[in-house]
Amino acid sequence: MPNVKGTRDLLPSESVIWARVEETARRVFSLYGYGEIRTPVLEHTELFVRTVGESTDIVGKEMYTFEDRKGRSLTLRPESTAAVARAFVDHRLGEQPLPVKLFYMGPHFRYERPQKGRYREFHQIGAELLGDPGPASDAEVIRMLVGFLEELGFEDLTVLLHTVGDQETREAYRAALVEFFAPLAEQLSSESRKRLERNPLRILDTKDSAERELLIDAPKLEDSLSAGSREHFAGVRSALDRLGVKYRVDPGLVRGLDYYTLTVFEIVSEGLGAQNAIVGGGRYDRLLADLGGPDLPAIGFAIGLDRLVESLPAAFRDRCTQAPAVRLIAIDPVPKLAAMELGEELRARGVAAVVDFGNDRMKAALKRAHRSGARYVLLLGEDELAKNAVTCRDLNAGEQSLVPRSEIVGLLHNRLRNQIKGQIKGQIEGQIEGQPAGQPGRQRGEGEA
Ligand code: HAM
Repeated sequence: MPNVKGTRDLLPSESVIWARVEETARRVFSLYGYGEIRTPVLEHTELFVRTVGESTDIVGKEMYTFEDRKGRSLTLRPESTAAVARAFVDHRLGEQPLPVKLFYMGPHFRYERPQKGRYREFHQIGAELLGDPGPASDAEVIRMLVGFLEELGFEDLTVLLHTVGDQETREAYRAALVEFFAPLAEQLSSESRKRLERNPLRILDTKDSAERELLIDAPKLEDSLSAGSREHFAGVRSALDRLGVKYRVDPGLVRGLDYYTLTVFEIVSEGLGAQNAIVGGGRYDRLLADLGGPDLPAIGFAIGLDRLVESLPAAFRDRCTQAPAVRLIAIDPVPKLAAMELGEELRARGVAAVVDFGNDRMKAALKRAHRSGARYVLLLGEDELAKNAVTCRDLNAGEQSLVPRSEIVGLLHNRLRNQIKGQIKGQIEGQIEGQPAGQPGRQRGEGEA
């Protein structure tokens, strides 16, 4: 049976990369004081209607909404900012020292037309900073995001920045748009006519080429910006300049969710084609109060993990895809247990080792070893057993030697030291905070013995 359209299976060759990206996010975000929040995949439909907005594409066309057995309308989350805000209100997180910093990662669902970089089940890594009005915190959020992407090796990314203004700005701009579009209503699509009544800002989001022509002469948000909004935007820009973050002010930046106020941003990757937005984010100063919570401002972003992985620099991918370095082959009649015992000893020293369980000829086992990408093959035959030794074949160099059984673990450990260090480096860095001091240190000490 095929999988559901727009969903994907991730096999180990890919999931290893995803896991490494997620690890990096956890490490970088925790350095800034973010803690992980896990909210349910299911929420009341009402939550997204009230926050993301009824007239948005997400709520209007893309939600996976259904009734449960008691007739309650539930929705598979299309995004997580609303859910994080709900949890913030429910758990009275506003009573904690502010700002509260939360990150999340997991699957999200939107009923969109699937194509490269666009799926119906997709994954986000997001972060939300709640309880600070900025503009310094806006810049810190963006700096953290850029730092994370740099750690993954990205160089060709562009931060697009803009402001949608505060409440006062939005009301003034809304009025200006209605005034501009009203006489042109005939030329608008039925969808945009509806938007003109409900939320004229959404017309700016149109993909219709004739409507995009009309937009050229439409009033610009800049002209409606309140003094407070201008001041905030100038503050964000100067803080970003100070922190050395490069960005481009993009007056055409329209975010597809209604809750935004003031700062909005996206990060695009030139290599991705049409679906090139890897990250979207912005400030949402009204959302918590609109949900019946405290009147606190907030800002955050979400990274599209599927797209991020699709445009990852090759160097990062290569670092993730290391096969277990050692393959152990017991040659009949030597029992597989002899190889399994040696495997355990290697793993105890951090050397990744796989025992070949095939019951066929040695030639076939060697072929499997080559295909697996292992660096070393250890052969345990009758000869080796008699000499209390192991034949160690270096598949890269095409050489082999007989090594005493008591020395083989230490030898391979030394030869693979850099690889082992690389593997545990991430773990150690991730654990430095809050770990009993000896634990990671012991691992490292062993590696260098
Ligand atoms: P968004 O722009 O709707 O923002 O989504 C963020 C990112 O999720 C996009 O830039 C894109 O990379 C990815 N994405 C969205 N839809 C799909 C899809 N169908 N397939 C693959 N990737 C997709 C939000 O969701 C906001 N909650 C972000 C935010 C957090 N704003 C403030 N805090």
